[in-house]
Amino acid sequence: MPEIFIRRNINRGEVVDTSAYSFANTEQIRRLHKSLNAYNVTPLVELKNFAHEKNVAAVFVKDESKRFGLKAFKALGSIWAIYKVISRELKLDNPTLDEIFQRRDELTEMTFATTTDGNHGKGVSWAAGLFGCKSRVFMPKGTVEVRAQAIRDAGTAEVEITDMTYDDCVKFTARLAEKNRWQLIQDTSCDGDEEIPAQIMLGYSTLAYEAIEQMNHVRPTHIFLQAGVGSMAAAVAAVFAEVFKDNPPRVTIVEPTQVACFYESFKVGDGLAHSATGNGQTMMAGLNCATPCSVAWKILRRLATDAATIDDDVAAEAMRALSAQGIISGESGSAGFALVNAAVNSPELRRALDIDERSRIFVVNTEGDTDPVNYVKVLHEDKPT
Ligand SMILES: Cc1ncc(COP(=O)(O)O)c(C=O)c1O
Repeated sequence: MPEIFIRRNINRGEVVDTSAYSFANTEQIRRLHKSLNAYNVTPLVELKNFAHEKNVAAVFVKDESKRFGLKAFKALGSIWAIYKVISRELKLDNPTLDEIFQRRDELTEMTFATTTDGNHGKGVSWAAGLFGCKSRVFMPKGTVEVRAQAIRDAGTAEVEITDMTYDDCVKFTARLAEKNRWQLIQDTSCDGDEEIPAQIMLGYSTLAYEAIEQMNHVRPTHIFLQAGVGSMAAAVAAVFAEVFKDNPPRVTIVEPTQVACFYESFKVGDGLAHSATGNGQTMMAGLNCATPCSVAWKILRRLATDAATIDDDVAAEAMRALSAQGIISGESGSAGFALVNAAVNSPELRRALDIDERSRIFVVNTEGDTDPVNYVKVLHEDKPT
């Protein structure tokens, strides 16, 4: 049995204002997404046989590997944040895309910058390209070249792999953006600047509202959400808390064992965000972030029930299991399901996570094979014993 650690969040249940995520307040975001040529509602796959075999009521996987042809959910956030910055810079009030495109000359002068471990940079490159703007993307050490190339291919980005950790790279890009008057589109808060991360997170609400509609507005009892800086998990948890106000689902954050900042923060339990203490070694590149986003933390410290850690082999097993169900799931993409896949077989973990035969479980496959070489390798590995 793989080692999985779970920490309860003792600050859960205190009041947090999630009204920015209400259906009405996020309508304009969905309107923007729907107006894009690349937009389709991503599939929600119900794993009926799996649920039956594992004695739970239902398991739903929202498959974001199909988002915008970019293999990950992230561009939902970057397109919305870039739209908001462009609207502000051009002094336009809720413009349509056509109204923005009429200002082509000014758009070509704008540069958007970010740090990324992969998918967010792809979203920024793509969204900047869509509006005819430039973009600069910086990546932490250890990034595989295929991820950098995918960012270039998605849009306009000039991409550089640095020799810095993710957290140091975030600070470096922020300084460079200020110096060069680039617009920073960072999906985590840096030095107290929360406006852009907050907009990016609001952009993720679309995936949650799509899923709720696809589940016919029936409440899941459990949601398992993987976290890097926690922006996606916080946004999805906030939407479910808004929609199912009276009885929100139980939320578990899932992180790699070696870089588990929410787990660490819940372990300390003082209501403050703490950085991960592990060695940062994981194949789950999108989750390899050592410090929670402050905007996400304020939401998750109230809405998350607990945080759990998984090793790479647990994620790998889930990638193979999802592949067998026809879902292409990358290393970080599989993490939420990976915990479910491991937990349902263990009476102890079922108890710890309150899973029983009535549980209706929701997870997000946040990416497809964004590192195709490793994806094939994992799929053909023998099952760990
Ligand atoms: C595929 C994938 N899943 C999950 C995440 C985690 O998102 P967040 O950093 O908002 O927690 C990321 C982040 O880059 C990602 O790329």
